Amino acid sequence: MMDLESLLMLIVTDDIMHAKFLNTLSLQENIGARKISASETLETTSCMVLKHAAEEHRHAFYLKKQMERLIPGECPTYRPDYLLAPFSSKYYLNKLDLETSRYLRNTLFLKGAELKFAAYLLVTYAIELRADLLYSIYQKVLHMEGSRVSVRSIILEEQGHLEEMIVQLKIFSPDWEHHAKQITAIETHLYVDWIKDLAIEVYALKNARENF
Ligand SMILES: [Fe+2]
Ligand SMILES: [Fe+2]
Repeated sequence: MMDLESLLMLIVTDDIMHAKFLNTLSLQENIGARKISASETLETTSCMVLKHAAEEHRHAFYLKKQMERLIPGECPTYRPDYLLAPFSSKYYLNKLDLETSRYLRNTLFLKGAELKFAAYLLVTYAIELRADLLYSIYQKVLHMEGSRVSVRSIILEEQGHLEEMIVQLKIFSPDWEHHAKQITAIETHLYVDWIKDLAIEVYALKNARENF
């Protein structure tokens, strides 16, 4: 598998591909925001949860606006042909959610509001670790290429989310690190599959353009 930095370099140096990538990240942020809202219950919706949902919605909007500045009107919606690797980009989040809930049901016998809240904490924890890595490398590539796009304001908020999840996970269980390790292992598999599909599509688009 090619490394992430080289893959992002290929994406950032092609405006149309870059627009689709921003749109794909925007979709993932939007799915994340919708998942937070879906996991809310009257017993667990705190100020932190509301702030978190609002910030993930803002990330989706912000990325879409960055994309609009790059090429106006190129990808107005999240239709599959406006995205990169649309299937696995969605599958990554949906499958992680499903697998985490299954883990919590089968090993900790959680259900109802408790299950929803624990799944929210662990899924977010795994995703924020990934986001920290992905957005940092992406920002580095944007800087190297002198791009007008920046994701710095997102990185700061994602770091805040990670810290909040750790605080909540410590309250959730003294064994939280053990559970988190199981979930990050699942996440790593899904992430590798997603990047593989992303690389396949980026190469296909690049080849098609060069042979045109
Ligand atoms: Fe986010
Ligand atoms: Fe976040």
